[in-house]
Amino acid sequence: MKKPVLGVLGATGVVGRNILKILEENNVVYEDIKFLASKKSAGKEIEFKGKKYTVLEAVPEAFEGINIVLASAGGSTSLALAKEAVKRGCVYIDNSSAFRMEKDVPLVIAGVNDEDIRTHKGIIANPNCSTSQLMLVLKPLHDFAVIKRMIVSTYQSVSGAGLAAINELKENTIAVNDGKTFQNKVFKKPIAYNCIPQIDVFCENGYTKEEMKVTNETRKILHLKPDTPISCTAVRVPVFIGHSEAVTVEFEKTITPEKVRELLNQAWGVKVIDNPEAYEFPTAVEAAGTNPVYVGRIRKDIAFDNAITFWCVADNLRIGAALNTVRIAEKVIDMQVF
Ligand SMILES: NC(=O)c1ccc[n+]([C@@H]2O[C@H](COP(=O)([O-])OP(=O)(O)OC[C@H]3O[C@@H](n4cnc5c(N)ncnc54)[C@H](OP(=O)(O)O)[C@@H]3O)[C@@H](O)[C@H]2O)c1
Repeated sequence: MKKPVLGVLGATGVVGRNILKILEENNVVYEDIKFLASKKSAGKEIEFKGKKYTVLEAVPEAFEGINIVLASAGGSTSLALAKEAVKRGCVYIDNSSAFRMEKDVPLVIAGVNDEDIRTHKGIIANPNCSTSQLMLVLKPLHDFAVIKRMIVSTYQSVSGAGLAAINELKENTIAVNDGKTFQNKVFKKPIAYNCIPQIDVFCENGYTKEEMKVTNETRKILHLKPDTPISCTAVRVPVFIGHSEAVTVEFEKTITPEKVRELLNQAWGVKVIDNPEAYEFPTAVEAAGTNPVYVGRIRKDIAFDNAITFWCVADNLRIGAALNTVRIAEKVIDMQVF
């Protein structure tokens, strides 16, 4: 089996650091590995598996000789560099939203639509974090009962907005506790002791771009009808790591909460914690640093026919970004499609 040269682009960021952790945990096979970031970090050292590596500036020529790029350096960086990397023979696994909805770019959650990887033409996209955690849960339910429509409310942690946002929650909280004024930079409203119903910019239809990502990416990954009604409200909450979601799904066929529990108990990558009488249900703090998508509060919805409502929690930096990126890279290696 051919072993790839890996390139981690955005290695100094929040997602990039998690990619390094997971590459090590999963013991991914590679011939060689390179670390890339902006000019600002070029020359700095990164330690990986006990060895020191110098961070390279991500210019087009730096991708020469790399087979698989695990990229988490933002949309504008990917727009500038992905095609340059592909031109130089790389498979570019992208964490940004730059290419997700392009027809020729497979949008993949490992374990859900792996076969789409084989159709890649150089770029493979990793879905938005809120979409990602939902897919492993929805796939077995959709296979059984067919999704008719869905309403999702997200409660998203600040780490989803990068290192600067994590620091802003810390500093804003300290300032409030000390009775000092604080000027928010990353968020449009105070994030300490608050919930902000805006993630990303507003679209013409009144939804935010983040909300429309959940709608459009879910349809693409699960191969749903393009007009399947999906409505999302995305909210930023003062949690460091872990996104939570309240989800109501109406199905074409009848499905009971017992059947949902049975299907999800067998599902890969999913863990059911659902014993309300003993106050057992998953929360973001418990999910942080772990790989499964946790599901609880599974019940028959009383507002819609044939609908189930549940609560779903996961580490956004893992399944929502780094873990799925590494899993896609592992599939690319297993399938030898690089
Ligand atoms: N955080 C999440 O939960 C999450 C989930 C899904 C997807 N994503 C996506 O992943 C990407 C990174 O997010 P993050 O949270 O890790 O952000 P971050 O902490 O701000 O890190 C950004 C990384 O990108 C690098 N970078 C920035 N501009 C660059 C340039 N012009 N050329 C090369 N490298 C550049 C930075 O390098 P320097 O250190 O040198 O500046 C850093 O390594 C974004 O596209 C984000 O949308 C994040």
